[in-house]
Amino acid sequence: MQTYQVISRWLIVGLLAVCAAQASTSDTPREHLSLDANWRFHLGDDWPNALRLDKAGESSGPASEKFNDTAWRLLDLPHDWAIELPFDRTADTSHGFKPVGPGFATNSVGWYRRTFELPKEDLGKRLWLQFDGVFRDATLWVNGWLVARHESGYYPFRADITDIVHVGGKNTVTVKVDASKFEGWFYEGAGIYRHVWLDKTAPVAIAPDGVFVYSQFKNNVPKGAAEIHAELKLINSQASPVKAKVVYSFTEPNGRTAGELKDTVKIDARSRKTISTDASGLHFKLGKYELWSPESPKLYKLVTTVEVDGKVVDRKETEFGIRTVAFDKDQGFLLNGRHYELYGTCNHQDMAGVGAALPDALQYFRVAKLKEFGCNAYRTSHNPPTPELLDACDHLGMIVMDESRLLGSDAENLRRWDTQIRRDRNHPSVGIWSVANEEFFVQSSVAGANVARTMQTYVKQLDPTRPVTYAAPQGDTFEGINGVIEVRGWNYHPGSEMDSYHAKHPAQPNVGTEQASTVSTRGIYENDKQRGYVSAYDSNAPSWATTAERWWGYFAERPWLSGGFVWTGFDYRGEPTPYAWPCINSHFGVLDTCGFPKDNFYYYESWWTTNTVLHLLPHWNWPGKEGRQIRVDALSNCEEVELFLNGESLGKQPMKRSSKLSWQVKYAPGVLSAKACRGGRVVAETKVETTGEPASVQLVPNRSVINADGEDVSVFTVSVADAQGRIVPTAGNKLSFELSGAGRMLGVGNGDPSCHEPDTFVGQTSVKSIPVNDWRWKLATVPARGALAPEYANDFDDSAWNRIKPKTDGDSGDQVLTEGQTAIFRAHVSLTESDLANPGLQIRFARIDDHGWVFVNNRRVGESTDWSASPAYDIKKALRAGDNVIAVGVRNESGSGGLNPDVNVEIAGKPVVPAWSRSAFNGLAQVIVQSTKEAGEIKLTASAEGLQSATATVATQPATQRPSAP
Ligand code: GAL
Repeated sequence: MQTYQVISRWLIVGLLAVCAAQASTSDTPREHLSLDANWRFHLGDDWPNALRLDKAGESSGPASEKFNDTAWRLLDLPHDWAIELPFDRTADTSHGFKPVGPGFATNSVGWYRRTFELPKEDLGKRLWLQFDGVFRDATLWVNGWLVARHESGYYPFRADITDIVHVGGKNTVTVKVDASKFEGWFYEGAGIYRHVWLDKTAPVAIAPDGVFVYSQFKNNVPKGAAEIHAELKLINSQASPVKAKVVYSFTEPNGRTAGELKDTVKIDARSRKTISTDASGLHFKLGKYELWSPESPKLYKLVTTVEVDGKVVDRKETEFGIRTVAFDKDQGFLLNGRHYELYGTCNHQDMAGVGAALPDALQYFRVAKLKEFGCNAYRTSHNPPTPELLDACDHLGMIVMDESRLLGSDAENLRRWDTQIRRDRNHPSVGIWSVANEEFFVQSSVAGANVARTMQTYVKQLDPTRPVTYAAPQGDTFEGINGVIEVRGWNYHPGSEMDSYHAKHPAQPNVGTEQASTVSTRGIYENDKQRGYVSAYDSNAPSWATTAERWWGYFAERPWLSGGFVWTGFDYRGEPTPYAWPCINSHFGVLDTCGFPKDNFYYYESWWTTNTVLHLLPHWNWPGKEGRQIRVDALSNCEEVELFLNGESLGKQPMKRSSKLSWQVKYAPGVLSAKACRGGRVVAETKVETTGEPASVQLVPNRSVINADGEDVSVFTVSVADAQGRIVPTAGNKLSFELSGAGRMLGVGNGDPSCHEPDTFVGQTSVKSIPVNDWRWKLATVPARGALAPEYANDFDDSAWNRIKPKTDGDSGDQVLTEGQTAIFRAHVSLTESDLANPGLQIRFARIDDHGWVFVNNRRVGESTDWSASPAYDIKKALRAGDNVIAVGVRNESGSGGLNPDVNVEIAGKPVVPAWSRSAFNGLAQVIVQSTKEAGEIKLTASAEGLQSATATVATQPATQRPSAP
């Protein structure tokens, strides 16, 4: 048996002298490099002992620098492995029946590895790794060193890796991701599903998230000049104090510089210092400015420059907006001093096709979709968002309720809260913080109130500009959190409880943190429990919830409620209320998981926008229902609507504010049409027609030109149309997709809450194992450092050597060496030309105990230093057709040791990507396509049996590539 003893095999890591910033070609040493590309991924907890807590700098298995990951799958981030797994009806309902988490140990741990090079010029810089979000429980190693452990799947984390990197060489990052526990009650994904960055700075630099810039006005109303305040945290990691010059330069939305402020600061050796324009008596006022609002999202920029000894050592750009937010007890939400109704939606972060791993372009896609029906506010329920969502909200105009994951005033939760606020507080889109959602167990208690107060006070220290709420599911209850929170949040309860609460607590402002929870399925007009569909008439809501019309009708009349947030903007995976299997996603959305509108879209568009809206439901394809009554609804914001069937009037009805109209119509195929009037004039007309059978496929990209940066996406809508080009609203044809050119398919969807077809198609690699048998061995001198020995040669005669007992159960009989002995082991393996033609050929050992040097055909292919690892080496170049000799020199350091004869040559074929497909759901499907880095054209073809296929193209234009680490 092995003695578990630590062997002194120290990796010598030269400590880096921290010296002055290197000259750089840019004007600052700061670099923000993407580490998203080229990760190797392995699913499974195959190295449970990789984390070593006894000794530093040499972890085992994939955490070790020496580990061979060539057989692992190659992929780019963001990545969510949960989306790739098949649905499993035994898995958790609220997480969407994906076999990850409790009860699914084999699918719940994933490993990621990649390397990056650091040029010699980086000597003296500070280097940070930053992860924007990993679901969840991440263990991070760099060059075999454990550098971070981070639990929550929604908060960013970073590690200063300066001390342990190889400057002028290759560095290895390993991340173990353990998604065996849930953090929420909705689909959460699994893996490194947000961006990863390598940041480089000079030793004197702006700290991570170290800039805070905001505008203020007297009385919080933008009249007169805007005062701009800036706060800056600086780091001096040098051994001597420095004097730094700081320049704050403010840039207008048109790019012109509006002015600048200058400051000097002394920072002690090896310390951090926070300065602010206020504390330094610096004032910056803008007499003329453009306010930020969802309708006009004007962005300013603060460019902060830090100079030491006349040299720029750091420069950072921070976008911000000039605007005020407030919640008033009587007037509700105020934006820029005026009542502004919040037309909000709550959202989770997943989408059809990609799960939780959204490329940035999809954040913009989703925010833009929400804006189409007048949504102007987004609640990041129930967790901190990815920063790119906030960027999209800043740029496209959307007010954000930025929510924490958990209520807690323990040190760890406050540290997370601190991170969230510092990271997000520059975004003009963020209008309010939410400390938590529905903390049923504690919300009415004194402790709950204390904790919420502590979190709220924390906000006040870090952000003087924004109020705080809590998404409370109670009615007229003031005990606990509601009694201490600045803005009373209302999850549900539109009705008398709100009025009585308001009457009793007239000084407290209110907001509808979560409303509606109407359930509906796109294009479905009858409940169907078996198939898991709910009618889209806005007539189904669970016991705690209300229809769209009910909550909005109530809120619309009470401006003091500030408006509210619909549960939800988009359908999301999990929570398939009111059903369970076969449903795998929610029905709460105004839009389905793809972003296709359900009928409620037009209800909200009617009352949340100034567009003239007229929409009829249901569709008009009801063969077999001729002569039967069908409910027809008109959604409109016009004064009157007249309905017609095949040209005959079915009556005109007046529209009440915030409502809709209904008729009972005897079904006859043909044309259902409507005219809507204002002031007696027809201002809108629409029609719904009975279509013919499916005849063709249509394909329309949402963007016909995208950037060739390997990240941008175009979202194709695929529809099934009849011979006249009308979308067939009941079509469910199976569609196949083929892509050629400068792109790749990322995911497919159709919005069907019960569809179990894959969202993404991952190439599968077949692996064939050829055992290497009949090992012989002899005690022999093993040359140091892997030099050649005569016994490694192919023609060496080993016929008189010992044999290892073949592997029996468990103990292989490989423990032939005693402490300090060395031996050489030999075996033969025969391979064919066609074996060698495969892309991956490696040799895998069960165990080499303790130190081993591996040779194939007298050529050194690898070294093993960890007796507990199962090392594998790439041997493609060393192999030949016919007989091959494998020789291993082994030195047993302690206890007993040897070579375990369980050795295999593993032959990996080319990954085979299955054909991409998806059925249409009620006429529609979606394909998300991503560019490569080559400019050109992406051609997508969609076809279905018996239908005319469609081809559409998207141009990919040359674009600036995101700077990334090699
Ligand atoms: C709420 C909860 C949400 C979601 C919703 C469904 O109570 O905050 O996360 O579960 O119910 O209606």
